[in-house]
Amino acid sequence: MSSVLPSSLQSALRLPLIETITEAGGRAKPGDLYQALADKLGLEDGALAATRAPATSRPYRIFQQQVRWARQNAVLDGLISRETRGVWELTRNGRRFAELTRIKPGHVVLLYRQDDGLALCAHAEDAASVIERGSLNLILTSPPYPVVNRAYGRMSVPDWLAWMSELMGLWKQLLQPDGTIAINLMDIHRAGSPTLDPYVERFTLDAIDTHGLNLAGRMPWHSPTKLGHLEWTSKRKVQPRQTLEHVLLFSASDHPAWDATRLPPRRRKALTPAQLAAEAKRVDKMTRPSGLVIRGGAFGSDHPIADNLIVAGGAPGTDHYSRRCKATNLPVHPARMPGLLARSTIQLTTDVGETVYDPCAGSGVVAQAARELGRRWITSEPVLEYAEGSRFRFETLL
Ligand SMILES: C[S@@+](CC[C@H](N)C(=O)[O-])C[C@H]1O[C@@H](n2cnc3c(N)ncnc32)[C@H](O)[C@@H]1O
Repeated sequence: MSSVLPSSLQSALRLPLIETITEAGGRAKPGDLYQALADKLGLEDGALAATRAPATSRPYRIFQQQVRWARQNAVLDGLISRETRGVWELTRNGRRFAELTRIKPGHVVLLYRQDDGLALCAHAEDAASVIERGSLNLILTSPPYPVVNRAYGRMSVPDWLAWMSELMGLWKQLLQPDGTIAINLMDIHRAGSPTLDPYVERFTLDAIDTHGLNLAGRMPWHSPTKLGHLEWTSKRKVQPRQTLEHVLLFSASDHPAWDATRLPPRRRKALTPAQLAAEAKRVDKMTRPSGLVIRGGAFGSDHPIADNLIVAGGAPGTDHYSRRCKATNLPVHPARMPGLLARSTIQLTTDVGETVYDPCAGSGVVAQAARELGRRWITSEPVLEYAEGSRFRFETLL
């Protein structure tokens, strides 16, 4: 088995796998789990028989292999026992993962406070009522995606669009007039089809048309470790691997308070001194069709990637946060955003001392990035165990 495991599919399979083992009484033979898991995921008949035959190794069953990867990853995260003897058994942590504690709707609890921020346990719609209007400079969040089945729930596309529209209206009121709302979303497929559900577009238009927000920009996130859709990329191969997620940025202002000079310089491929000299000469001579003459060095040395593209792999499983969660039997959040995404968005849209809020805060990546960058922060998260785990992010930063 590969030691470099793609993280995204494993986290998508993790909850259904754990639920399937739970339904089997907490322990089961893998051979008995595959069909139940395929049924839970709504895979078509024949998913279990799909085989791949690499040129250099023995053929293998695609679905079973991916489930074994997911199981291996869950073992590394302490959710499934290391011992096999032909049986996959949930650990105590694995059982707890299936039984997360959610705060009741209508309640808001202050879970902990730091000198630069506070962490609430609440649903986003409730937390909005306790945050002062006009007090925020950035709302940055990765809400649960519609239809994706995770430990913390599942929502249909129409329900999700209505929920998010209500939240966008509430969040707009909490922001400074030139503040930013940044939303990270992932494309999803229409049921039974390799085509995409246009919920991202519907959400964007609703933000503009219903709430009068401006689409201030987009910062796509490329995650090289993402695996494609099980059916359309891995099995039928009709879709290339989709490694991009969206970060959509909205503002009530026509001129949001952004400053791109706050972003750190892009790391570019190193050029030799001779290549640099040749490039400077070439750019010196460059004249645009408009007649605009481009000055030498105007673009830096080379441009391997777009400047607004965030390139970052999935969250690590060996960082301080994950280790402390495992040591204290708290679930490691299954869908963390990369720190780079949070830092880039915060740097572009806020200044030191300003306030950032993450309403679907999960493990607190946004709060940690805000502190590292000298911003104030507020988080809210309805799953108690995730909100509790976010405390560990501050242990190494004190
Ligand atoms: C994609 S995760 C966010 C992960 C987070 N950005 C991180 O890096 O750890 C979405 C989070 O939204 C939370 N959530 C679910 N329903 C919610 C609600 N009604 N209000 C706020 N958050 C909710 C989930 O519990 C989950 O932790």
